[in-house]
Amino acid sequence: TGMFTYDPGFNSTASCRSSITYIDGEQGILLYRGYPIEQLAEQCNFLEVCYLILNGELPNEKELAEFQYNVTMHTMVHDQLTNFFKGFRRDAHPMAIMVGVVGALSAFYHDALDIRSKSDREISAIRLIAKVPTIVAMCHKYSTGMPFMYPQNKLSYVENFLRMMHATPCDDYVANPVLVRALDRILVLHADHEQNASTSTVRLAGSSGANPFACVTAGIACLWGAAHGGANEAVLNMLEKIGDVSRIPEYVKKAKDKNDPFRLMGFGHRVYKNYDPRAKLMRQTCHEVLNELGLQNNKLFELAMELERIALEDDYFIEKKLYPNVDFYSGIVLHALGIPTNMFTAMFAMGRTVGWIAHWDEMIADPEQKIGRPRQLYTGAMRRDVPANHRK
Ligand code: CMC
Repeated sequence: TGMFTYDPGFNSTASCRSSITYIDGEQGILLYRGYPIEQLAEQCNFLEVCYLILNGELPNEKELAEFQYNVTMHTMVHDQLTNFFKGFRRDAHPMAIMVGVVGALSAFYHDALDIRSKSDREISAIRLIAKVPTIVAMCHKYSTGMPFMYPQNKLSYVENFLRMMHATPCDDYVANPVLVRALDRILVLHADHEQNASTSTVRLAGSSGANPFACVTAGIACLWGAAHGGANEAVLNMLEKIGDVSRIPEYVKKAKDKNDPFRLMGFGHRVYKNYDPRAKLMRQTCHEVLNELGLQNNKLFELAMELERIALEDDYFIEKKLYPNVDFYSGIVLHALGIPTNMFTAMFAMGRTVGWIAHWDEMIADPEQKIGRPRQLYTGAMRRDVPANHRK
């Protein structure tokens, strides 16, 4: 009953106009600002892609140098922010800490911020892209009881991050260039994905005019769930639980059982009804990284490939058009890069930050933008009176 269209999960409702990312789910096509993801992954680095997503065009050499300089200059976090970590238990989930600490950034950048000003929006985007990796690395250091590593401005975005994650104050850490390239590619593949749950959350939060750092934090909270960004962590845990190729059919059977809530993690997508183009690139990156590290016989990778093979030959997965998604192979690459499993979703957040803030910016600048306010089909009691003796 009611006069509104019922569309749970927004399967058929476009909530905005957007010119950032195009997906053709039937054909498995993904474009950022018109450029195919395959070409961007091959020919561009993450900061170039950030510039593209934010500004609509790829940067020339001068524009990139300036953008890179601006991001690098904002990688430090206010020293006061480090105090926020101390309130958390050391074994807190990194995504819980991310919600707290990235959310706290809104207190540092609020009073002087005018969201109607294009330059204020630009500097907020730069600050987020620059500071989220610093905070992600701090989450890791905090959980292992190690001192925080300050960013080093002479390093590239990804080298700097890997150093903040893996180095200690008393070693000369130098990141392996093959691993730097792999992580850069992971970030490119996660940079944006149009109106996914977390991006829609950022837009909805932002539609009231709220602080952008707080809005991005709402996106981080949404990303955490296993149906969204939490899937990369869930995939690795699942592969470890399967443990051996011989047990794959048992898990495939469980995933098909209507009475069993278990799903194959890293399979299926709301929009892709064909192979996720990001998963293809991720599988290739997986090969490269494992070869570089001399881990060609990596058990998790073998398991993943065999699971993919068996699932893609199964009628259930064929009929429902369930293919591996971006999260299926990313966990294996992150694992090989020495990133702990509970940090995987925070890594996803690091890549997606640019997408979130670009959508927020696009929405604020859009004259058609309104506060997001879904309607409902009411199913509760009709009007009635409180009985005189209701406590009896
Ligand atoms: N394993 C087994 N069955 C599945 C799976 C799966 N991974 N995914 C969907 N199905 C079935 C589902 O049971 C349903 O069957 P039926 O029509 O008989 O009820 C049908 O396929 C359609 O599923 P749905 O839940 O209605 O589809 P959705 O578009 O609402 O959900 C999804 C998409 C990604 C949440 C879902 O496929 C899923 O839970 N996948 C596993 C988690 C995962 O890998 N998430 C990462 C998504 S990609 C990156 C990201 O966004 O973070």
